[in-house]
Amino acid sequence: GFSWKLPDHPKLPKGKTIAVVVLDGWGEANPDKYNCIHVADTPTMDSLKKGAPDRWRLVRAHGTAVGLPTEDDMGNSEVGHNALGAGRIYAQGAKLVDLALASGKIYEGEGFNYIKESFGQGTLHLIGLLSDGGVHSRLDQLQLLLKGASERGAKKIRVHILTDGRDVLDGSSVGFVETLENDLSQLRSKGVDAQIASGGGRMHVTMDRYENDWSVVKRGWDAQVLGEAPHKFRNAVEAVKELRKDPKANDQYLPPFVIVDESGKPVGPIVDGDAVVTFNFRADRMVMLAKALEYADFDKFDRVRVPKIRYAGMLQYDGELKLPSHYLVSPPEIERTSGEYLVNNGVRTFACSETVKFGHVTFFWNGNRSGYFNPSMEEYVEVPSDSGITFNVQPKMKALEIAEKARDAILSGKFDQVRVNLPNGDMVGHTGDIEATVVACKVADEAVKMILDAIEKVGGIYVVTADHGNAEDMVKRNKSGQPLLDKNGNIQILTSHTLQPVPIAIGGPGLAPGVRFRTDVPSGGLANVAATVMNLHGFEAPSDYETTLIEVVDK
Ligand code: 3PG
Ligand code: CO
Repeated sequence: GFSWKLPDHPKLPKGKTIAVVVLDGWGEANPDKYNCIHVADTPTMDSLKKGAPDRWRLVRAHGTAVGLPTEDDMGNSEVGHNALGAGRIYAQGAKLVDLALASGKIYEGEGFNYIKESFGQGTLHLIGLLSDGGVHSRLDQLQLLLKGASERGAKKIRVHILTDGRDVLDGSSVGFVETLENDLSQLRSKGVDAQIASGGGRMHVTMDRYENDWSVVKRGWDAQVLGEAPHKFRNAVEAVKELRKDPKANDQYLPPFVIVDESGKPVGPIVDGDAVVTFNFRADRMVMLAKALEYADFDKFDRVRVPKIRYAGMLQYDGELKLPSHYLVSPPEIERTSGEYLVNNGVRTFACSETVKFGHVTFFWNGNRSGYFNPSMEEYVEVPSDSGITFNVQPKMKALEIAEKARDAILSGKFDQVRVNLPNGDMVGHTGDIEATVVACKVADEAVKMILDAIEKVGGIYVVTADHGNAEDMVKRNKSGQPLLDKNGNIQILTSHTLQPVPIAIGGPGLAPGVRFRTDVPSGGLANVAATVMNLHGFEAPSDYETTLIEVVDK
């Protein structure tokens, strides 16, 4: 039968303290002035690269290596941490939704049949991120869902859009809204009453994560459910164009708006008897709204009115909370993660990041599962993030505080694995502020140093890697790699992640002298890291895990 017991590694000892450091948004790219990691002073990461060539390498962090549909899909934190923690490559939400839509199975499942009950009398509301970024959602999936639902009886549809500018270029929201408007007008010509009902920028409206700032979700609730927002427009293209005129506004931070009819009434508040689908497949930034929509007991903000609806997520977002209880597509069944194995083999684990990335090294790492496997073996510490600011204002974020917690955990001797996510390269990279991103990279490097120094003191081992690229390339490029200019001759800032590989470095006084990276796993990716870390803890990885990156030669 099945056993959690891992075989002993034939050569590597147990009992070493291992730091697993994930630099968020830290890829490897050509050195130029848009590579903030290159521009920044990063002596620690530089020394890992130069110091020991057989203990530093690149791994793939995008596309099929992390379970995304194509090689054109950039990496992201969800799929990156899933792969790092689970040690296997799962077809991820983006792909599973594609398959369910292509086969039509999405319309046969429990979730769709549940919401369909409302199509006779009620309105179908679709809430989610409007872009083709492919990180949280995809426009083409929304388009197929609109078509499929209307063909299956939805007569009145309202779309509540969240503009992006974070997984796609800032300013691209206008085009996406135009495309959607065009689709909706075609539906109207077929007799379906379909309209955009509300909107707002994803970072300001609805898509908060890890309970960093509930006011973000409340602003969305007010617009989507109550039909109330500070800005009212007759049409969504006009709304986005108008609101973007404020020099402080951009796609990510557009204020909330509602669409009203000729008498000034909102066209699509959510009321009793309606159906609601949140069409993002990615979990982290939908969990809070899902709680507001689903929980009877809810005290995070005053919902004012709680409509009796049939609600389904595109996926189930939290496997432990079973949230939401209805969903259109089953999430990847990520089970037997390395965290669960290691805890079951006596490895005491400490995990830490600041709020905006806390779930990355816990929830995503553990296969989209919240909570501990065994609270007596694990401690997860969240350093509160600054909220209500864009991180270019505070590019140091909480990196040094995270590193201090990790250092103390290492020195305490209470843990065998100390795992952190350092958010700076990613969170500041997403602001598109190049100068601030350079500062961010420098601070992340200092945080790494603090952790490596602690590992040095206890005779431990470090594994330093990243989840996907971001800060190493801040400009949109053409196929031959040249920066693209906009019509005013300015470079187009890349706020999103990249397709770049990421570094992985191993070392520390506890690392057995003969350990080095194998050369026969050239296309290794993030999913190979779990087996590697298990080996360093003195165990063989389960046979269905992606292979280890290391070998031990006699020295
Ligand atoms: C976000 O959610 O902030 C971005 O869409 C993706 O960033 P992450 O994958 O690094 O969290
Ligand atoms: Co990111």
